[in-house]
Amino acid sequence: APILKESYSNYFRIGAAVNERTLHSASELLKKQFNSLTAENEMKPEMLQPEEGVFSFEKSDRIVQFAQDHNMAVRGHTLVWHNQMPEWMFHDTTGTTIDRQRLLERMKSHIQTVVKRYAGKVDCWDVVNEAIADESSQFLRASKWLDIVGEDFIEKAFFFAHEADPTASLFYNDYNESEPVKRDKIFRLVKSLIEKEVPIHGVGMQAHWNIHLPTIDNIRRAIELYASLGLQVQITEMDVSVFDWEDRRTDLKQPTDEMKELQAERFEAFFKVFREYREVITSVTFWGAADDYTWLSDFPVRGRKNWPFLFDENHRPKEALTTVTSF
Ligand code: G3I
Repeated sequence: APILKESYSNYFRIGAAVNERTLHSASELLKKQFNSLTAENEMKPEMLQPEEGVFSFEKSDRIVQFAQDHNMAVRGHTLVWHNQMPEWMFHDTTGTTIDRQRLLERMKSHIQTVVKRYAGKVDCWDVVNEAIADESSQFLRASKWLDIVGEDFIEKAFFFAHEADPTASLFYNDYNESEPVKRDKIFRLVKSLIEKEVPIHGVGMQAHWNIHLPTIDNIRRAIELYASLGLQVQITEMDVSVFDWEDRRTDLKQPTDEMKELQAERFEAFFKVFREYREVITSVTFWGAADDYTWLSDFPVRGRKNWPFLFDENHRPKEALTTVTSF
């Protein structure tokens, strides 16, 4: 059977998101098929700094160590986000919201402690995650970062990360990254950062896609737009849901034959585009390794199984693996 990372060794890295559990349950598959890892949750601020000044690196260290032991790269995810921030981050001990200066100090301390610890081991970071609003009427997403610091929280985060590890590639990462309206806003944000000489090196396209959307044209246009800024592009959280967004059925025990066929065709088309842009795309990471575990089994419908990857629940290659490795 084909080996994913070998098929793509002249193109880009092939990554998987892992957590404490799948690092063990999928270890054979990870070692064999992938050459990059991302922590699904273990490097997020609430996990790394649960209390101010008290860092907890055990779980993320284990992921980094596994990667080192097996000659894999690590994508760091994530330093600044509106979600999964520790409770204490935005207020003082009396519960009062802190001011801009104080929050910037906390941001700097978090970013620099984490980035320095993994310098030389984590070579790219999602510095800012999902800062753009989904609503077309709004540019930046409402968040405590935006409220307290202002729009420049984004550039500050990049400067702090760059100072901590000048050799790391620094990414802006987002979802719905191929849909025209959001795509243009991401482009506008990143372009303005580059004009301000902010140290940013890439755009992360999360790629939470499904068997019908986004269209290949929109994906292509997104890659071209981001690349036109002279940046790398990485596919950072790929999964291909067998359900359309509107489909809220809960009764399927297995994907239908039609779903499997469509999924294999979609994967084939996606990877064909990725190969075309090999000069630009430096890494393709799935948001999991195999169909036995995916965050999509809780989203958008709680407890509903999904089958979004190239390997099945028993870690065997699916039809889709053949399509992406036959070229
Ligand atoms: O750790 C707690 C546990 O103590 C508690 O008992 C349990 C009860 O719900 O929750 C556990 O936390 C969960 C956490 O994952 C760790 O398993 C959270 O509820 C759950 O919301 C959280 O979900 C993660 C989600 O980010 C949070 O927004 C998903 O696993 C993770 O796959 C997902 O990843 C994000 C990327 O970071 C950014 N892009 C979108 C992507 C998918 O949403």
